[in-house]
Amino acid sequence: MNWEATLAPYRQVVEELKVKLKGMRSQFEHEKRHSPIEFITGRVKPVASILEKAERRKIPIEKLEKEMQDIAGVRVVCQFVDDIYTVVDMIHLRRDMRVVAEKDYISHKKDSGYRSYHIIVEYPVETIDGMKIILAEIQVRTLAMNFWATNEHSLNYKYQGSIPKEIKERLQRAAEAAFKLDEEMSKIKNEVQEAQRIFHRK
Ligand code: GTP
Ligand code: MG
Repeated sequence: MNWEATLAPYRQVVEELKVKLKGMRSQFEHEKRHSPIEFITGRVKPVASILEKAERRKIPIEKLEKEMQDIAGVRVVCQFVDDIYTVVDMIHLRRDMRVVAEKDYISHKKDSGYRSYHIIVEYPVETIDGMKIILAEIQVRTLAMNFWATNEHSLNYKYQGSIPKEIKERLQRAAEAAFKLDEEMSKIKNEVQEAQRIFHRK
């Protein structure tokens, strides 16, 4: 299997999605509006992880394109929870990508404590052999959710998926604390916006 050739269109998609989402961010900044996007990251799934997931999910290599939807992955990190829904709505409205699946792990958090909004899009890329439709996963989350997920991911890696019970419990408490932090910050956001509206009227 020529992985470099197989993954080339995915690299292209990740780069294009990053450029486009960063473009949304700068447009808000130009218009002096609160940007719902704090930062963007992206990656192509490493070959070792593709093979590990294909094995775990019993996905034959020739079906990767259709059945492994996160080979191209982009992460959008927001300040506030309602910014997530603003970003999700904007993605739905775009005509250069088509939403094919969504998972709301914010209103339905995972048992681990994980929270994020996941969108799978179909994205067309132009290659030298013509147009190719690629699936990509966009994860949208707050800074607090991202902080939690990054640390939990490192621990999962360290303990190869079986985190000791006391650390798991601590992670669940940390997830709860991150949730409270998001809630408190949302309340402050409303206060600030109300203050700005009053300020504008005067
Ligand atoms: P995989 O988890 O990648 O096998 O995909 P899936 O088809 O089960 O989709 P799911 O929505 O469960 O997860 C997709 C991605 O979300 C993962 O690859 C992670 O990046 C992230 N994710 C899901 N659950 C967790 C979690 O408990 N902790 C962390 N840190 N990330 C998670
Ligand atoms: Mg999973």
